[in-house]
Amino acid sequence: MGKQSFKHWIGALAAAMLLAGSAFAQQKPNVVILATGGTIAGAGADVANSATYQSAKVPVDKLIAGIPQLANVANVRGEQVFQLGSESIRNEDLLTLGKRVSALVKQNDVDGVVITHGTDTTEETAYFLNLVVKTEKPIVVVASMRPGTAMSADGMLNLYNAVSVAGSKDAHGKGTLVVMNDTIHSGRDVSKMINIRPEAFQSPWGPLGMIVEGKNYWFRKLDKRHTTNSEFDIDQIDALPLVEIAYAGGNVNDTAYRAFANAGAKAIIHAAPGNGSVAKTLVPVLQELRGKGLQIIRSTHVNAGGFVLRNAEQPDDKYDWIVAHDLNPQKARILASVALTKTNDSKELQRVFWEY
Ligand code: DGL
Repeated sequence: MGKQSFKHWIGALAAAMLLAGSAFAQQKPNVVILATGGTIAGAGADVANSATYQSAKVPVDKLIAGIPQLANVANVRGEQVFQLGSESIRNEDLLTLGKRVSALVKQNDVDGVVITHGTDTTEETAYFLNLVVKTEKPIVVVASMRPGTAMSADGMLNLYNAVSVAGSKDAHGKGTLVVMNDTIHSGRDVSKMINIRPEAFQSPWGPLGMIVEGKNYWFRKLDKRHTTNSEFDIDQIDALPLVEIAYAGGNVNDTAYRAFANAGAKAIIHAAPGNGSVAKTLVPVLQELRGKGLQIIRSTHVNAGGFVLRNAEQPDDKYDWIVAHDLNPQKARILASVALTKTNDSKELQRVFWEY
């Protein structure tokens, strides 16, 4: 090859690499938005209606069209999985959603998944996906406290942030995330602690990070087992055993516990004050139901960081009861239901509650 043609060859190669480089740099992540309803899809009659509105009205394509800036952070497409207020989501819906997420994350052309959701049970869905979807790719659940029609609606920025996190390489392997109010929470820890303000979602042990103008700032990792390190797999689950929550306070009676047992519940979450306390009149009832094969799981409705200890005020070893560790009753229900797909051994179930 002559000197001149070698120079041309090098020049052409450099130009090609520059083009490829810039194309690669412009190559945005592919993020799929799975819409399920909630206030983020809500609509009110007036801009002053921040709390009076109808949820689960706006379809996913309109949500995406309402934020053209999404195209700056990712290649986005949407699917409407269902259109519900999240208080109406049932176990079957969780399975449908989980199986769709599992299928999508297996695709090479999907880099992350966002789920738009109602705030009421965001914490349940996010924890469920954290337990059963085997992927390192980001799965981000997002919601809003105000409908898009209201002044200072929070849904647009929440969704923009969620798509940005879902397309982020540094969000890989962190478990299912919940992005709300510029904050990145673990789906395991987060809970809706306030029901009327944008800062509604809190994590008792602290959020994982923050997102500001498309940049993620991480502060901690989730220590509990999740996603690829979970023994549970949505692709192996076709039904979730019935687990019910009985809310206890003063003057508690056994009516709900017996009704749940008669309705075929496999476990009852005893949602109690303090350290999962059990009224003395209820102890023999729970012992009787345990004797009939029902699992009894003591949880607490102390809401800013509960922590139920074994054999503290109740002899759990003697009664063969389980404690829900730091999980609130609604998350304890999710974990119990998933765990019961694999075992009904109380010692194995207690291990699961310590590890997840
Ligand atoms: N119906 C409630 C839900 O879908 C509305 C609350 C909200 O999404 O913020 O969870």
